[in-house]
Amino acid sequence: MENDQFLIFFIRFFIQTIRSIIKTFMNLLNYIFNGDNMVKLTNEVLEVIKKQKPLPIATADNTGKPNVVFVGMWKFIDDETILIVDNFFKKTADNLKMNPKLAIVAYDSESNKSYQIKGTVDYLENGDQYQEAKTMADSKKLPGKAAAVVHIEEVYDAVYGSHAGERIA
Ligand SMILES: Cc1cc2nc3c(=O)[nH]c(=O)nc-3n(C[C@H](O)[C@H](O)[C@H](O)COP(=O)(O)O)c2cc1C
Repeated sequence: MENDQFLIFFIRFFIQTIRSIIKTFMNLLNYIFNGDNMVKLTNEVLEVIKKQKPLPIATADNTGKPNVVFVGMWKFIDDETILIVDNFFKKTADNLKMNPKLAIVAYDSESNKSYQIKGTVDYLENGDQYQEAKTMADSKKLPGKAAAVVHIEEVYDAVYGSHAGERIA
């Protein structure tokens, strides 16, 4: 019995390690062929996003069918990366697995600023960033199923007026 448990543990560990290696290799290929197309958010944009509560996030399946949900459990890892905790994702998780793209919109009525952000997502069910998400979920006794780590690639001005829709980063 103990041997069986050890074998199961070992097989799971082995599969996870192989998946991590493949993912790292794919990221490396992506970097070599496409370059690092991440963009840094300015403080102005960061402040507008931080004030947006809850934050709407949009995804799409591989036919292009859109889906939008609110998230409250998330944080900036740095000025080009957002970590979102998957506690209850269903269609969102399915979409991210088949099409790892995500868009966010935020509006701050005080400053009358609005921004759209688009990026590519690593949907992680293990590893350091997953553990970070899990710790955040545990603190609220929520499931913490995965971490959706958004690498920001595009930023647009989204407030009404002459600059609406203009790409700013
Ligand atoms: C205010 C609010 C905050 C939410 N925060 C989160 C969150 O941080 N993480 C999460 O997984 N779901 C969160 N949800 C649930 C999702 O919005 C959504 O219901 C869930 O992803 C299922 O929808 P889907 O099938 O389109 O993914 C929140 C919902 C609301 C209304």
